[in-house]
Amino acid sequence: MTILVTGGAGFIGSNFVLDWLANAGETVINLDALTYAGNLDNLATLVGDERHVFVHGSIGDFDLVSRLLAEHQPRAIVNFAAESHVDRSIHGPGDFIQTNIVGTFQLLEATRAYWGALTGEERENFRFLHVSTDEVYGSLAKDDPAFSETHRYEPNSPYSASKAASDHLVRAYHHTYGLPVLTTNCSNNYGPYHFPEKLIPLVIHNALAGQPLPIYGDGQQIRDWLYVKDHCSAIRRVLEAGRLGETYNVGGWNEKANLAVVDTLCAILDELQPRGDGLSYRAQVTFVKDRPGHDRRYAIDASKLERELGWKPAETFETGIRKTVCWYLDNQAWVNNVTSGSYRDWVGQQYEGKQ
Ligand code: NAD
Ligand code: DAU
Repeated sequence: MTILVTGGAGFIGSNFVLDWLANAGETVINLDALTYAGNLDNLATLVGDERHVFVHGSIGDFDLVSRLLAEHQPRAIVNFAAESHVDRSIHGPGDFIQTNIVGTFQLLEATRAYWGALTGEERENFRFLHVSTDEVYGSLAKDDPAFSETHRYEPNSPYSASKAASDHLVRAYHHTYGLPVLTTNCSNNYGPYHFPEKLIPLVIHNALAGQPLPIYGDGQQIRDWLYVKDHCSAIRRVLEAGRLGETYNVGGWNEKANLAVVDTLCAILDELQPRGDGLSYRAQVTFVKDRPGHDRRYAIDASKLERELGWKPAETFETGIRKTVCWYLDNQAWVNNVTSGSYRDWVGQQYEGKQ
C-alpha cells in the first residue's frame, strides 16, 4: 500500500512523513516543490529507506501528478503543500493564490480523473485528505466560544483567504463529483523543523543569536498551540476513520497570548542555556509595528474529533514547548542551514524599520 503526501518536506509534512513511516509503515510518495520552506534535511534520517520516494515538483503540475498517481496507485492523498506564512502573504499574495488555490485545483482535477477510473474496493477505500487551518474562521473576541466546524468562514489575510478557497474547492469536489474527501482545520503547530520565520522558532533563534525578540503590537493576541506530532496523529486518525465529506477541527485547548509564549520560551532558555551576562532573555523583547489586519484570537473546539474518533493530544503546552526548545538547542546545525541565504533577505524586509 502507498500514500501520496504533498508538501512533505515542510514543517508539518516532514513530521508527518517521519511519523507515518514510524507508525504505519506504508510507502510514502512525497511530492514537494522545495520552496524556501521545503527542506530535505528534515528527512535526512530516511536516506536509504525504500519506503520514502521523494519527487521534486508542484501540485499545480497536472501532468506530473497524473503520472505519479498512475505509476504508484496510492490508496490516499494527504495534501499539506501550501504557502503558509501570513506575513509573506501580506507582502506578496500572488504565490498564495497560485499554490493554495490553483495548485489545489489542479491536484483535485488529477485526483478526480485517477479516482474516477478506480473500481471496486480501491475506489471505495480511496481518500483525499486536505490539511487546512483554523484561520479560515477569522478572529474571535475575548469571550467568544472556540471555533466549531460549523463556524462561518471569515478569512482575514490573503493566506487564510487562499486556504478558505481551497477548502471550498475540496468540499465542492465531494458534493459535485462524490470525491471521497476529508478536511482537517488545525490550530497553530509548533515543534521540530519549524521554519524560523514563525513566532516560536524565530524567538528561540533570535534569543540565542542576541537579536531582538519582535512582538507585534501589544503582544496580547491569542493563539491555540498544538505540538506538531499531535497534529500528525490526528491526521492519521481522520484518514483511518473520518466520515467522508466531513471536516474535523484539530487543537489542544492551549490558548496563550503571544507575550506569555515568549515569556515561557525565555524562562526555559534562561534555565537550559543562560545568557553570558546573567540577564534573562526577556531583556531582548522588543515591541514592533503590528501585522496589518492581525487576527486577535484563535481557539479551536476539537470535541468532534475526540467524540467521534477518540483522538486526544499526547502533549500539554508545557511538555511540548520544553521538547521544542531542547530540539532547537540540539539541532543548531539545522537552524544555521535554514537561516542562511534568502532567509536573511526576508528578515531584513520584514523587520527593518518596524521598531
Ligand atoms: P510549510 O510552509 O513549512 O511547508 C509547506 C511545504 O509545501 C514546503 O515543503 C514547500 O516546499 C511545499 N510546497 C509549497 N508549494 C508547493 C507546490 N506548489 N507543490 C508542492 N509542494 C509545495 O508549511 P507547514 O507549516 O508545514 O503547513 C503545512 C500545511 O498545514 C499547510 O497547508 C498549512 O496551511 C497547514 N497548517 C499549518 C499550520 C501551522 O501552524 N504551521 C496549522 C494548521 C494548518
Ligand atoms: O492558526 C494556524 C496558522 O498558524 C497556520 O495556518 C499558519 O500556516 C501558521 O503560520 C500560523 O499562523 P500565525 O500567523 O498564527 O503564526 P505566526 O507564527 O506567524 O505568528 C503567531 C503569532 O505571533 C501571531 O499573532 C503573530 C505574532 N508574531 C509573529 C511573528 C513572526 C509576533 O508577534 N512577532 C513575530 O515576529
